[in-house]
Amino acid sequence: MNFNFSKKIDKIKTNYIIHNNGYDIINKPVIVSSKGSFLKSISGEKYFDPGLGAGSQILGYSNKKITDAIKNQIEKGSIYLHNNLNIQSFTEKLTEILPSQFTNFVYCNSGSEATQRALRIARAATGRKKIAYFHGGWHGMNEWTMNNDGERFGKFFIPREDGIPKILKKHSILLPYNDDKAFDIIQAYSNELACIIVEPVQGSNPRNDTTDFLDKIQQICKRFDILFILDEIITGFRLGIGGASKLWNLYPDIITYGKIIGGGLPIGLVSLTNEIADRSFGDKSKFVPTGGTFSANPLVATAGLSVLNILGTKDYNYINQLGELLRSLVNSYYKKHGIPLSVIGTNSISRIVFTNQKFKNRMERDYLEQGTQNKQIEFRKKMLDKNILWPNNGILFTGFCNTKNQIEKLATKINETSHEVFNELI
Ligand SMILES: Cc1ncc(COP(=O)(O)O)c(C=O)c1O
Repeated sequence: MNFNFSKKIDKIKTNYIIHNNGYDIINKPVIVSSKGSFLKSISGEKYFDPGLGAGSQILGYSNKKITDAIKNQIEKGSIYLHNNLNIQSFTEKLTEILPSQFTNFVYCNSGSEATQRALRIARAATGRKKIAYFHGGWHGMNEWTMNNDGERFGKFFIPREDGIPKILKKHSILLPYNDDKAFDIIQAYSNELACIIVEPVQGSNPRNDTTDFLDKIQQICKRFDILFILDEIITGFRLGIGGASKLWNLYPDIITYGKIIGGGLPIGLVSLTNEIADRSFGDKSKFVPTGGTFSANPLVATAGLSVLNILGTKDYNYINQLGELLRSLVNSYYKKHGIPLSVIGTNSISRIVFTNQKFKNRMERDYLEQGTQNKQIEFRKKMLDKNILWPNNGILFTGFCNTKNQIEKLATKINETSHEVFNELI
């Protein structure tokens, strides 16, 4: 993508390039500080961030209680590499919030690591090799669940990922999402599948009408002793404090968490039922590697405990209603002015899609959005000109730091920008 933003580019002379999808050091503002819903650039420009750190900053950037807790702990140490009180208190708190069957935890340092560990544990517990995952999903950077299996989805564009030998994907089965054809494929591989991993709400296609589909996945998993892994790295502590599993009464074998529970520091967490922990760690004939230098460090545990304590006092209706407000203000404007876009989403998760047609999954979304790439780039560029830093992943989150007024202003700027981008139609 060519992000040639006009006004708001901080020109910094560098001799290096950081290769990271998330950063574009040449064509983006250079951020030097953050507070609440805003990021500040080196040139002093203040940007509203509707992505809130890929959803991780549900309380807002640089929350004072959390930064104070981090400051206090850092003087005592950020890493001990031994059992520590901080991780014990944090884990204790987690068990008060999560579904009661989850009493076993594996810590790591990112969501990507959590899903990687979860898949490994599922394979070890079942003694089976194959894993299944859904098109349009995202489980981070682990090789097993990246979408490079282009063939199955024929004419639909699926990005190719170079650097991942095809052999590594030999045991990964890509399934169509929100589509009953998935169950025929699952049944065909039922004796070989260790697990099925799914997000309760896909960031690429956020919606709340897939609960029956999730329920069917859960049922087929039980039927064939396939482990059901719920990836709650976005939805955990966001759809409600207990995440999707509690809100929608799901009974996964394994849940992965990340983002919010790090309080702004890197974290990944795999939570397991006793039964699964027994089948993987309890069986002394098996060795399932976990751990890592920074895993379960006292600093992240302190930040995590602090965020959980604060979230326990919050009413999630607040952020859900802000999400609803954003969707309704923008969608009603689009309808009134015949702008061919829509905002989809559920609770505090939303996304603008460049079609006003209904679709059931990312595959159909990609199909309907064909040819809108330049409009999408223009939209982001114009939003930046209005001091709104659009998230790279396109997922909009409302948080406890947002006010109603901020969301109304955001909706107005989205509406104005959409109007400008599609002005030839109106
Ligand atoms: C559902 C889901 N799983 C896993 C990940 C990977 O997490 P991380 O970026 O912390 O590695 C993400 C990140 O966006 C995610 O949304």
